[in-house]
Amino acid sequence: MSKLHIVANRLPYSIKKEDDEIELIASVGGLATGMKSVYEDYGGKWIGWSGLNSDDLEEKESQKIDSLLGEKNCVTVPLSENEILEYYEGFSNKTIWPLFHYFTQYVDYTPANWETYKKVNQRFADKVLEVCEEGDTVWVHDYQLLLVPEMIKSKKPGVTVGFFLHIPFPSYEVFRILPWRMELLKGMLGADLLGFHIYDYERHFISSVRRLYGYEINFNQINLEDRVIKVDAYPMGIDYDKFVNASTDIMHKSIHERSDLHKELEKYFLMAPQRRLVLSIDRLDYSKGIPQRLKAFGNFLRKYPEFRGKVTMIMLAVPSRGHVEEYQKLKKEVDELVGNINGEFGKVNWVPVWYFYRSLPFENLIELYASCDVALITPLRDGMNLVAKEYVASRITGTGAIVLSEMAGVSKEMGEAITINPINEDEIADALYKALTMPVDEQKERMQLLQHRIQRYSIFKWASEFVNDLNKVKELQQEFLAK
Ligand code: ADP
Ligand code: G6P
Repeated sequence: MSKLHIVANRLPYSIKKEDDEIELIASVGGLATGMKSVYEDYGGKWIGWSGLNSDDLEEKESQKIDSLLGEKNCVTVPLSENEILEYYEGFSNKTIWPLFHYFTQYVDYTPANWETYKKVNQRFADKVLEVCEEGDTVWVHDYQLLLVPEMIKSKKPGVTVGFFLHIPFPSYEVFRILPWRMELLKGMLGADLLGFHIYDYERHFISSVRRLYGYEINFNQINLEDRVIKVDAYPMGIDYDKFVNASTDIMHKSIHERSDLHKELEKYFLMAPQRRLVLSIDRLDYSKGIPQRLKAFGNFLRKYPEFRGKVTMIMLAVPSRGHVEEYQKLKKEVDELVGNINGEFGKVNWVPVWYFYRSLPFENLIELYASCDVALITPLRDGMNLVAKEYVASRITGTGAIVLSEMAGVSKEMGEAITINPINEDEIADALYKALTMPVDEQKERMQLLQHRIQRYSIFKWASEFVNDLNKVKELQQEFLAK
């Protein structure tokens, strides 16, 4: 029976290695959390990197890791220290990531990083070719592996290849800046179906293909000399029921069963019932607009002093790509801004920003979603932003409000959120005021519409729609070849 394999730089599990102890933990990030819910249904493997430096591992340790991951149907692609530096931190996260998020001033153009990117993409493709058979389907994910579709297709044309980009695809005027733009497009065009979160990214991609390659394009079909390719928008969803069930479980826990975090959150409300919590959750990434959000929160406290002592922002920043300089600078900036706000406004019995720089277990994440009155989601650019959808699913009481950046892909599906421009700190402050003073009936009305929509297009629907379309392209290819 033909199988479907997933290929992504990150596996759904990362390795926690302390002394001799090796443990699997869930990876953070939209791609890993989303795809983890579906990949086991497809009967294939997930091919990716364990997150560790292979130079640091003894053979025995590598074998143990491979076997632990193997039990989860994962196949590891090892990366050496230099490959991590040049392929992962370098070309993926210092070149493509900033460029595709429109941070052109951060883009690094080191040719050696490009060379290693090609080499590592080839390693991923070789691993896929080893694992899959003619007739199988391979679904390649994200910007770290843009060359892999073509590398698979050129060796095994009988394998059906899908590709999904989890970040924005920038406008042609930005994409064209890259010296390696032709090669990257060629790599992506190895796929039979290319998926993007929203129509705008799809449109930008098609426009780059048209201008750089001049291929004939009919709506969302690209006609190459020997094949046709389809391009479409698939807004990624979440495992909705998982969040509803987890949130329901937490609500029904007795006081003794509750986590320390949950008990502290309840204490905060007990101290003064009119208190409110605002939630901010992201990987610590410059695309997420965290400094602007903090400044906006400071503006809010200045402009609406009646909320001092009553509103706390819980800021959860998950460590991410900490070896890349721009992330280190951001960490310093955020630390300083949190200190400034707490120093300027804090009181003995009230801390304006509770700041956690760490990853939290799933249970705590749900407690935060369930306890916070407002989700403040203000990325400067974001392919989708699943946190917004997870917040909606976890609000089983039907209350809560969302302040949402118009620059996040998810804003296209969330007309009921309070939309803001993430650069406009005054607008964010006013939106926060609006969210905190929104009547409960209105909160419920908006939340109900959001919940219906997000529930309907879950991660399972998203994945099955993509895979069905991929199968249809396969049939289309056969018709095209028969002509
Ligand atoms: P990105 O993919 O850019 O990181 P998303 O908002 O799309 O942004 O996805 C983030 C994912 O990471 C979500 O599924 C969220 O549940 C998960 N996540 C975020 N913070 C944490 C955390 N502290 N602990 C565990 N998972 C987290
Ligand atoms: C985003 C990217 C993913 C990536 C994740 C976490 O969601 O689209 O490809 O896995 O961030 O980043 P990391 O560099 O830790 O894998």
